[in-house]
Amino acid sequence: MDFKNAVAVKVAEATGLDVSEVNRLVEIPPQEDMGDFAFPCFVLAKTMHKAPNMIASDLSESDQMSAEWLSKVEAKGPYLNFFVDRGAYAKEVLSEVLSKGTSYGQSEEGEGKTVIVEFSSPNIAKPFHVGHAFTTILGHSLSRIYEKLGYKVVRMNHLGDYGTQFGKLITAYRLWGDEEALEKDPITELLRIYVKFHEEEKNDPELTVSARENFKKLEDGCEEEVALWQKFRDMSLVVFEQLYKRMGVTFDNYNGESYYAKMADQVVAMLKEKNLLIESEGAQVVDLEEYGVPPCIILKSDGTTIYGTRDIAAILYRDEKYHFDKNIYVVGIPQALHFKQVFSTLKKAGYACADKCEHVGFGLVKFQNMKFSTRDGNIVLLEELLDESVAKTYELIKANAETRKSDMSDEELREIAEKVGLGAVIYTYVKAGRERDIVFSWDTMLDFEGDTAPYLIYTYARTRSILRKAKEQGFEPVGSGSVLLNKLDGDEEFACVKALADLPDAIRKAAGSNEPFMVSRAVAGIARAFNRFYNNCSILGGEDAELKTARLAMCEAVCDAIETGTYLLGISVVEQM
Ligand code: ARG
Repeated sequence: MDFKNAVAVKVAEATGLDVSEVNRLVEIPPQEDMGDFAFPCFVLAKTMHKAPNMIASDLSESDQMSAEWLSKVEAKGPYLNFFVDRGAYAKEVLSEVLSKGTSYGQSEEGEGKTVIVEFSSPNIAKPFHVGHAFTTILGHSLSRIYEKLGYKVVRMNHLGDYGTQFGKLITAYRLWGDEEALEKDPITELLRIYVKFHEEEKNDPELTVSARENFKKLEDGCEEEVALWQKFRDMSLVVFEQLYKRMGVTFDNYNGESYYAKMADQVVAMLKEKNLLIESEGAQVVDLEEYGVPPCIILKSDGTTIYGTRDIAAILYRDEKYHFDKNIYVVGIPQALHFKQVFSTLKKAGYACADKCEHVGFGLVKFQNMKFSTRDGNIVLLEELLDESVAKTYELIKANAETRKSDMSDEELREIAEKVGLGAVIYTYVKAGRERDIVFSWDTMLDFEGDTAPYLIYTYARTRSILRKAKEQGFEPVGSGSVLLNKLDGDEEFACVKALADLPDAIRKAAGSNEPFMVSRAVAGIARAFNRFYNNCSILGGEDAELKTARLAMCEAVCDAIETGTYLLGISVVEQM
């Protein structure tokens, strides 16, 4: 039972308003003494010709406001406050979680709809740094969130595998390439020769000419140049895919810029036919003044297409192939204008799909106030960050295992450290609104008591261990629908049940705003509420065996919810730690 909706139904029945409208208006009051749900009566003032306060007061006294699941309905100013019956509420919510397990929060609202999530999209032959991790982690999480809501999700990796830099790489490779180094560590070697090219180019204009020629050959499909480009691409992908595998990230395709470059001519032809191309300083552009953005360049003065042209081609391709309902781009905020230009160009050209495209931007990644970007050479690789986090986590849990005289093997500890260490990094990216900059700090992200993945995972593992211990003592949690769940009506229990009930709505809101942090906040809320309950109420102690089995059911529900929520964020739980 959806209590919020049940409240809405009651109000709708008593007032003649539409249920879905009331549902939208029902609030969760900020303070406990204001009840569990509140309906602001302002909307009724006009039709009822009464002051909102009066309306609230009259409604609170009406017979229609009683139900076995409501303990009381009170008027406070213009608000009608609903207090649910805690026992009934606990039974409803916990039964729902227990019957669904890790499918809790799943819905069909996306049924029959397709969402394209474009994310990660690193550049070939360049290091995979912490900025790429931001799009990778957000996109991975959003994909899972949409799937949870029943959408068909297409995960696309728009690789940066095209452009004049590949002409430079081919020239550089022929001059200075070290085959052995390339095999061993392809990206480092490709970066080395790329940097060297730029240094040498300053004194040797021949290099510039050669690079341009090689790029032309690549574009024309000359065998040797294409083979080299393919080799760089394949080798880079091997490195990227290792990282993806480690993080459990998958893609439906890696159609990168080179894939759409082949379709750029069609974009030019289409825009020409619609008379949208105008000349500006030798280049062909689409004027976008009516959209309040600078013109979108389609063809450079030398007649070659650019990044934006390929993005336009990609949208037309995606629209035709997938008939998407949403096409989202998880790309840093600095590219916001670029996407505005691309979407506006398509809109001006009359494509309805332009309105279904959305740029999902995110902030910068910082380490002690340093800004990292591929260009300044001062970059932090994602792999380094993950390795370091795992190593530090290993030390922490090892020390802990020693204190507890745990019999976990070193192999087990390392497996746990890998999951928790990765989780700590991932959580740092999704714990706040995506447009905010992230500041990494070991102390914060590995704090087992803080707003961190280790805290969530630890809560999960400890709760699992309570369930195991209970089983040994012969106590099993009661199942979904059990009347014993009505016993869970204490303050801490009620808070925990409420936190559990919030998760499905948080998942929906996360999709609506493309903000995974809505999920992380809800899961953290569950863990915090549960820990307060754990610290204040004895689960396995006490005489009341029925209460014990009901509390164990709450433990199980909390585990299901934490596992569900962390999965949506791309974080794995562990059974013990
Ligand atoms: N490869 C680009 C970069 O690393 C990001 C690509 C974003 N996606 C797009 N469709 N333009 O900056």
